[in-house]
Amino acid sequence: MMFRLFWVIGLATTLLGQPLSYDPNPMGSIKQPLILRTYLPDPGLEPAVLAHHHRASKSPKYSPREGNDLPGEYEMIQTIPAGIAVNHGPALSYVFDTTECRLLYAWQGGFLDMFPYWGEQDGGRRRSFDYVPRLVGNLFHLAEPLERTSPQPPRFLGYDIREGVPTFHYQKNKISYQLRIEPDDSRPLSFQQILTTGDQVEVSIVTGEILSQHSGFERELKFKEANVDAGEQVFLAYGCIACHSTDGSRGHGPTLAELYGNTRQLANGESVLVDESYLRESILTPNAKTAAGFPPNYMPPYQMKEKELQALLLFIQSLSPAATSE
Ligand code: HEC
Repeated sequence: MMFRLFWVIGLATTLLGQPLSYDPNPMGSIKQPLILRTYLPDPGLEPAVLAHHHRASKSPKYSPREGNDLPGEYEMIQTIPAGIAVNHGPALSYVFDTTECRLLYAWQGGFLDMFPYWGEQDGGRRRSFDYVPRLVGNLFHLAEPLERTSPQPPRFLGYDIREGVPTFHYQKNKISYQLRIEPDDSRPLSFQQILTTGDQVEVSIVTGEILSQHSGFERELKFKEANVDAGEQVFLAYGCIACHSTDGSRGHGPTLAELYGNTRQLANGESVLVDESYLRESILTPNAKTAAGFPPNYMPPYQMKEKELQALLLFIQSLSPAATSE
């Protein structure tokens, strides 16, 4: 079947059960996950994992205005089209594959970065037609290749939501299954899997280790000089506000108010002075040190231009007026 790009765009992103927002880094919570049916990136799955998926092929260019094909072809879209992505906030994100009917991959930290397609936080001005989002956070679980692909692929029957959490229903060789994945806050890089087969229920804890780290897209901020105002723009553009307040209140991460110049207790019992190099390290390699009382792996690693980082540091320093006025 011919696969035309302009169709795909219309179908690209459907938010289920949540009002549509233009937040390019949307997040759910433990009790109220965000469930998104969209194209999903392939974070390095073995080809055999996707055995029953049909890969896209190149398609001729088409002019909607003229109603006919034009010279040239569109490249194929490197994406997993049959996934449902679920996010419980920084605690857990995962993708359920509705073709193979199983968990494809899971990560912790952020969710999906929709920036090029959804555009800015306020207003949504789309940047490009790059509608395959990127992962944000630490990938810790990937599906294994299938040992053998049965001629009869499983059948996805849909999902229902119980206490806010989706349960996926499917059938394989005439047996009914229900799969429910829940975040497990008590262990890092873990989730709980509840598999119901017929009337048998099996609960297991799945724990992984970091397989790869993902930072989403770079932002295209334009400012002349790195100063506090520019730093605030960077802070908003990269979505830091989702986890860090600037007014002293606790979020998923520590507040950045009065942080600079103070002593930070670390999870390993040591303490450090919060200076520029601590802030820099916290942003670029968040797992290098973990603030006491907060989980590791919740903060995604960031890649940004040096100028953006400098502005961000000035902004964070400005939230500690006492330390900066000396
Ligand atoms: C998904 C949640 C999340 C996002 C988004 C996030 N962080 Fe964090 N951040 C955390 C958590 C949790 C910690 C504490 C654990 C640790 O030290 O890694 C943290 C720690 C920090 C620290 C050290 C704070 C301290 O009190 O020691 C800094 C600085 C920081 N983040 C800056 C940023 C900046 C700047 C951004 C945006 C570019 C950002 N964070 C985005 C969750 C997040």
